[in-house]
Amino acid sequence: MKFQIFLLFLAFIEFSKTDFPYVDRECGQDLTNLWLDVVAVVDNSIGMRDEGLDSVAANLASVFSAGTRIGTSPTEPRTTRLGLVTYNSRAQQNADLNKFQSLDDLYEGVFGDLHRVSTSYDSLLSFGLQAAENLFNAENLYTSRSHFQKVIIVYASSYRGTGEQDPLPVANRLKTSGVRIITVAYDQGGDGTLLRQLSQVASSGFNFSSAENEGNIIGQVQGALLESNCFCPNDWIQYRQFYSDTNSYRYGVCFQPVTLTAVWKAAKMSCANRWNNSYLVNEFNLSKHNFILDIVNATVGFHQPFSYHIGGNKVGGVWKWDRPAGWDQPELKKWYDWEDGYPIAASTLNAMLNQQTGQGLEAKWENIDMLKTAANYVCETASCDTDNYCSSDGRLDE
Ligand SMILES: *[C@@H]1O[C@H](CO)[C@@H](O)[C@H](O)[C@H]1NC(C)=O
Ligand SMILES: *[C@@H]1O[C@H](CO)[C@@H](O)[C@H](O)[C@H]1NC(C)=O
Ligand SMILES: *[C@@H]1O[C@H](CO)[C@@H](O)[C@H](O)[C@H]1NC(C)=O
Ligand SMILES: *[C@@H]1O[C@H](CO)[C@@H](O)[C@H](O)[C@H]1NC(C)=O
Repeated sequence: MKFQIFLLFLAFIEFSKTDFPYVDRECGQDLTNLWLDVVAVVDNSIGMRDEGLDSVAANLASVFSAGTRIGTSPTEPRTTRLGLVTYNSRAQQNADLNKFQSLDDLYEGVFGDLHRVSTSYDSLLSFGLQAAENLFNAENLYTSRSHFQKVIIVYASSYRGTGEQDPLPVANRLKTSGVRIITVAYDQGGDGTLLRQLSQVASSGFNFSSAENEGNIIGQVQGALLESNCFCPNDWIQYRQFYSDTNSYRYGVCFQPVTLTAVWKAAKMSCANRWNNSYLVNEFNLSKHNFILDIVNATVGFHQPFSYHIGGNKVGGVWKWDRPAGWDQPELKKWYDWEDGYPIAASTLNAMLNQQTGQGLEAKWENIDMLKTAANYVCETASCDTDNYCSSDGRLDE
């Protein structure tokens, strides 16, 4: 009996060891906690037709019906504001970012404003985008939401404009300043030109077509909004699938390379102070290790051979990854990246450093004394997203 209990106990230990998800955090997917500033830019030229406009209204209303809090709230920061702009030969601001203060307001506004097309054949997206840009600029002056991500959703039936009416310069200016642009094409039997043109206006992967996929436009726009809501604070770099492809899949994790030097224990404290719940990086697998090395290689102030502290440290004789105070410290498990001959068995060599080896861009783990070896270091924290609200400034000292 005693032996059986002992076995159970062992199984429990084994379970808690494997319990920790040894994978990186994904971006939050909770539409009820979406926190964004969005402007819908809707083509209401004749080409859109009344039915098209009506389905835009239905789409917009549905996108925000999954529990997203509309407007602003004195007690809940995770809210989404929606502004509305329509355009044809000129643009009109139908609702600024503060008009809709509930889902009911939003329904009333979009169905009220989007049910009859204008009398104009012209569809000048450049004016629509400009109006959205003006809206963002005006709103930013008076709110504490400057750290909220900004998104434009364009619904268009056609696309005209060259020279001064070309929408690409304003689209590019918006994208460069961090605004994401989603496009939904209402191609009324066109030849695909609209799709090609709108995909240049859209942020990468955010170009959708109503004809192709009517049923799923709601899900696609919601997905793009969640992705837009997942970002890193200034001076942090978001973890993505491929370092060389800035449009590749993004994880809910951010890194900050630090070009100062410090001993490991000081680096740990410094990381903890850089943002809310930040710590020294955890290297769970080779892709992540290489991604961090790519960041180090691209950061001015790191010098070859690269040498930088990461979060591994020995706690009670066991190697664990650094985490914020009070959190579980995950135990190291395969994958390991120890350099040949490491870890050296010595109780004072109780922390981990990445050391570039050879001529190429390759680095291996070495164990060092957390109070003696000074080096650069790399910090990690969760992205700001629907599961992790970041106040205008998540720094602990403010
Ligand atoms: C590394 O981990 C991430 C998730 O954290 C996973 O998506 C990726 O495929 C892993 N790469 C390798 C080489 O195991
Ligand atoms: C979005 O753009 C990409 C690249 O330009 C293109 O391959 C894809 O077909 C476009 N999707 C739609 C729905 O237009
Ligand atoms: C390392 O950085 C240098 C300079 O930024 C760059 O030219 C080189 O391609 C990078 N190496 C790798 C393997 O990415
Ligand atoms: C820090 O993160 C915690 C959750 O871990 C959250 O409750 C708190 O509001 C955050 N603080 C700031 C300033 O963002």
